Amino acid sequence: MLETRMLKTALAALVCAASFGPAQAQGSDAQTLFETKCGSCHVPDASEFLEQKVIVTGDGLVGEGSKMPVQTFLESGHGRLEPAEITLIMEHLETVQDSSQLILN
Ligand code: HEC
Repeated sequence: MLETRMLKTALAALVCAASFGPAQAQGSDAQTLFETKCGSCHVPDASEFLEQKVIVTGDGLVGEGSKMPVQTFLESGHGRLEPAEITLIMEHLETVQDSSQLILN
């Protein structure tokens, strides 16, 4: 009986690892991407960067100086990202922005 219970616990742990693992890996990949591609010129911390350079509008994240959507800005070549990397960075910035709002409110 004890063995069955241990097996169930082990299985539950595996399921958790499988469902949380990839999401976390993606978040840290995106953070690493931000640090390498953007952090050389900007602050490497995405939430600090958002505070300094980005404002939140109804249409999403917009550059504070140019008032241009960050996505458009990156698509125009800023930071020299591949299209897939732009998606990843935008998702990352939006997630970081959302979670910092949760903390503030
Ligand atoms: C080669 C240096 C360099 C790299 C790499 C770089 N930036 Fe910039 N970025 C700048 C400079 C210079 C400015 C304009 C001055 C400022 O606002 O700091 C700027 C401005 C910005 C702005 C604000 C625009 C505005 O309207 O005020 C955003 C948003 C931005 N960068 C995002 C990024 C992101 C995201 C990356 C990574 C993919 C990145 N940058 C990579 C140099 C760089």
